[in-house]
Amino acid sequence: MSILKVCRMGHPALRTPARPLSSDELASEPIQRLIDDMLDTMEDYAGIGLAAPQVGLPLRLIVLGQESDEDDEPPPVPRTILANPQWRHLSPVEEDDWEGCLSIPDMRGLVPRHRQVVVQGLDRAGRPVTIEAEEFYARVLQHEVDHLDAVLYLDRMKDLRSLTFVEEYQRYWAFALDP
Ligand code: NI
Repeated sequence: MSILKVCRMGHPALRTPARPLSSDELASEPIQRLIDDMLDTMEDYAGIGLAAPQVGLPLRLIVLGQESDEDDEPPPVPRTILANPQWRHLSPVEEDDWEGCLSIPDMRGLVPRHRQVVVQGLDRAGRPVTIEAEEFYARVLQHEVDHLDAVLYLDRMKDLRSLTFVEEYQRYWAFALDP
């Protein structure tokens, strides 16, 4: 296992659109190792999602979520690994909620996202998968797919006045999520 370096905002890799992976590439040892390394990196950085451009690779590959523990409730964002993901919304409703990004450390901002989406892509074995997601899971999927198109959450914010350092977010805004 390796912990990869996560590119921070300003690194050109974050502004380079990613290319699809072929089935052969996806099955290859280097890409399978990359998937494991991205999972380890996401966990090491305590993130909820990671896209290949964030580790400097222009490939349409994302990892997100947590492993489910059989005894516990399913996690809000289940472990998901997708190559070549594409999404469409199931309802046009968009909601604002707080997001952060490993490439924009120590900040949070309010970002509008579709509440319900359906995502299609390939799992790590190259099988086609279709995922219906809502709320935070849908939000994280949209955020990670944006990275493949060289889009950061700041680009999606309607009003930069909610941009907040994590410390101030916890002090002044986090209570609003948990009344
Ligand atoms: Ni991000």
